[in-house]
This record gives sequence, C-alpha cells and structure tokens, in this order.
Amino acid sequence: MSDNLGKENWTAVDQLMESFLLPRDNALTAAVAAADQAGLPPIQVPPVQGRFLHLLARSIGARRLLEFGTLGGYSTIWLDRSLPPSGRMTRLELNPAYAEVARTNLERAGVGDRVDVVVGPAAESLPALDGETFDFTFIDADKPSTAGYFDWSVAHTRPGGVIVVDNVIRRGGILDEATAGDDAANVAGIRSFLKAAGSDPRVDVTALQTVGSKGHDGFALAVVN
Ligand SMILES: C[S@@+](CC[C@H](N)C(=O)[O-])C[C@H]1O[C@@H](n2cnc3c(N)ncnc32)[C@H](O)[C@@H]1O
Repeated sequence: MSDNLGKENWTAVDQLMESFLLPRDNALTAAVAAADQAGLPPIQVPPVQGRFLHLLARSIGARRLLEFGTLGGYSTIWLDRSLPPSGRMTRLELNPAYAEVARTNLERAGVGDRVDVVVGPAAESLPALDGETFDFTFIDADKPSTAGYFDWSVAHTRPGGVIVVDNVIRRGGILDEATAGDDAANVAGIRSFLKAAGSDPRVDVTALQTVGSKGHDGFALAVVN
C-alpha cells in the first residue's frame, strides 16, 4: 500500500471515529473556519487528538493547564472544556496575529475569561509564571526549544501531573537528523528532548506513533514523579 493510499485510509478512519465518537461543537468548527479564513496554517491537532488531550486532562482532574503554542486556539478550546468551573488555563503564543484569532475563537467558545493569553516568545514569558504549579501541560510550539520547555514544565508540574509533547515522530524523520532536510533543526530539537526525558528521574515517559488526517506523527507523554 503506497503512503498516499495509507493517508487516505487514515483520514477516512479519523472521520469515522469523529462521526461515531465526537460530540458536535459549533465553537470548534467555527474556530477552524476562522483560522483558515485568517490564513493561519492548518497545523492544529486533529479532532480525535484534541478530544484525547481533553480526556487525559479530565482523567487526572486537572485544574491548572498550560499550553505552549496556541495558533488559533483549537487545542486550547478542547483543553479548556476539560476544566472544572474553578479551573484556569495559560497559553503562550509567539505570533500576535495568531493570538488575536485565538482570542476571538475563545470568546466565541465562551471560555475567553478563564484563559490567560501571554503573547511573545514562550522562553521570555516563563519567568512570570515561576510561582505557578500546573496539573497538565501541552507543548506544541517551536520544536528546537522543546527540551527547555519540557525541563521548565517538569519543575512546575505537581507530582502525578501530565505533560504531552506533540509532533515527536515527524513522519519517521526522528530516526535521523542527517536525512531530515528542512526539518533537521526540529528533528534535532525533538531528539534532544527525548534523550533528556528518557534519563530524567523526575518523570516516567513514553512516546506513541500516530497516523491520521495529519499523516504519520506522534506524541510523548510524561507523568511527573
Ligand atoms: C503547531 S502550532 C500550535 C497548534 C495548537 N496547539 C493547536 O493544536 O491548535 C505551533 C504554534 O507555536 C507558536 N510558536 C512558535 N514559536 C513559538 C515561541 N517561541 N513561543 C511561543 N509560541 C511559539 C506558533 O506561532 C504556532 O502558533
């Protein structure tokens, strides 16, 4: 089976799962449409993975969420929907235009008042969050910085808290930085993160490959000890 045929099947299976399992949510549909219209790249998590993040955060009773890389707010809305009424979420986004699209999307979803938006490079935004402790963190921003974001997140996550890092497989590009072409800096960043996480006694971690409408990729999942 060619890779293209594979991707067609993966997309069809994702769509079937969406139709069987996912609730209709007009705010999420509108968020994707608004991001498309504003010219944002369509690199948000697919619906089944948004739902997966949501369920994971809910399963640990997360009240304090952190997200690196918000784009148009799609994963933010999924994660916010996992919070109890007293919960809060902080999202870090480099691009002011993306942050603005996300702000509108969050307001439309009715979650704008409990999501703090910090615009700018995440590394520069982190010191202001030094006193915080998070239950659940989703890292999905500039891949070369992933090891640093993860290290900071581990130090600011409660024992039993969860950290998810997206895009760690990169169509298998993770196997070899030397053959990753344009993606070499991202592959190098993710490989450094994986090596450091695997020997970090503060966490237990694994990574899963995924296929679906966004192709072949995967995520790492860590629980803080
Ligand atoms: C893959 S997108 C995030 C998608 C989003 N999590 C979702 O699934 O809906 C990556 C985002 O990270 C942002 N980003 C890139 N470099 C960043 C940095 N240094 N600090 C904060 N955000 C950054 C990009 O502007 C982009 O919006």
